[in-house]
Amino acid sequence: MSETRKLFIKTYGCQMNVYDSERMAEALGGQGYVETDTPDDADMIVLNTCHIREKAAEKVYSELGRFRELKAAKPGLKIGVAGCVAQAEGEEIMRRQPLVDLVVGPQSYHKLPQLEARTRAGEKALDTDFPEEDKFDHLAARPKARRAPAAFLTVQEGCDKFCAFCVVPYTRGAEVSRPAERVMSEARDLVERGVREITLLGQNVNAYHGHDGGLAGLIRDLAGIDGLERIRFTTSHPNDMDDALIAAHGEVEKLMPYLHLPVQSGSDKVLKAMNRKHDAESYLRLIERIRAARPDILISGDFIVGFPGETEEDFRATMDLVSAVEYGQCYSFKYSPRPGTPAAERSHVDEATKDERLQRLQALLRSQQRVVQDRMVGQEVNVLFERAGRAAGQMVGKSDHLHSVFVEAEDVAIGDLRRVRIVESAANSLRAELV
Ligand code: SAH
Ligand code: SF4
Ligand code: F3S
Repeated sequence: MSETRKLFIKTYGCQMNVYDSERMAEALGGQGYVETDTPDDADMIVLNTCHIREKAAEKVYSELGRFRELKAAKPGLKIGVAGCVAQAEGEEIMRRQPLVDLVVGPQSYHKLPQLEARTRAGEKALDTDFPEEDKFDHLAARPKARRAPAAFLTVQEGCDKFCAFCVVPYTRGAEVSRPAERVMSEARDLVERGVREITLLGQNVNAYHGHDGGLAGLIRDLAGIDGLERIRFTTSHPNDMDDALIAAHGEVEKLMPYLHLPVQSGSDKVLKAMNRKHDAESYLRLIERIRAARPDILISGDFIVGFPGETEEDFRATMDLVSAVEYGQCYSFKYSPRPGTPAAERSHVDEATKDERLQRLQALLRSQQRVVQDRMVGQEVNVLFERAGRAAGQMVGKSDHLHSVFVEAEDVAIGDLRRVRIVESAANSLRAELV
């Protein structure tokens, strides 16, 4: 038997990175690695990175610098960089930061065991290829250990949309869908291990085409798995929200009433400059159709303020669109120029204006979010309990609408799906009683 080594993985960025980190840890499990939750006693550290905004990428370099002392104290410590920064800047990372032994991109992490072996032999290892083969076919079967009740499952990767601001098509490559039967077998496997809720992941998940019936067809098949109680998916592009998927929201009981549907801006001029290929009006009409199919659906979104060329009038159009939609949840960002993307070459909105617009937008989004959340008070909802709370006897879970819900109850266990009545709406959560 090989000796046990300790692996510390730190994950940045989106949910797909969370999923990838799990798969990387499993891949290195075959090399005798077990996960640890601190870098201090690790034999290998992997940063699974995000390149979406400038700050996210900078964090990687400052984080790496902090491992200098650890490495001096333990020369056998190996340091790896994975994820989207690795893909975009792998060679530069190797040059700039001699502490790094290993760089692996999001499409080649199935080769981690070989790459790790090379670092043990004293070499530096870099793999940022987009290989022909499907990495999932080359990863070992997933271990059988019991798991938390909610899990992510990647079904689609990459993006062909090329929004003018976005690095994802470059870091994750072209759109690829995993075949439905593979997804089904991974889902069954997760359910056998205690999972009751699965969130299907893709950079552009509703472009999924690994099933004849698209994402809607996959969701209907998944709904047939006994023991799987809840299905979610993220992230969707408005242009791929087809009739079948909208209908599924009305018909498939296990498909949860929550939809993340980023629009980025409410100005048609800005949307065009972003290469989004839809306008504000078509987005609003789409939301109406989705709400007609599932009236209680909670809509979530992403916004970018201060995109090159955005005027005060364009920004007001974004505020108007937000007012019209009434979001239950939103993420908003200042535009961040990314190397290699078309928008990075354009003339930029000044930082103070971006700051000021972000504050106005976030104030509006916060107030909407609160209105939607407060409306839950008095209602009965289902909650899947995921962890114990800080207070004694407190349990925390997620409602169908993805609100965090707290209850004080003796007889609730992690993994229980229970009916509760919401009694109070707090800053970012709801308090409830069992019914
Ligand atoms: N695939 C998803 C989004 C992936 S990135 C989609 O199509 O919506 C997540 C969010 O980050 C985006 O929706 C966008 O709002 C934001 N984002 C992406 N690139 C950005 C940039 N250069 N500057 C600021 N925010 C950005
Ligand atoms: Fe990026 Fe999403 Fe646009 Fe693709 S659709 S380029 S992932 S923002
Ligand atoms: Fe970041 Fe890559 Fe995800 S850039 S948001 S980790 S796809």
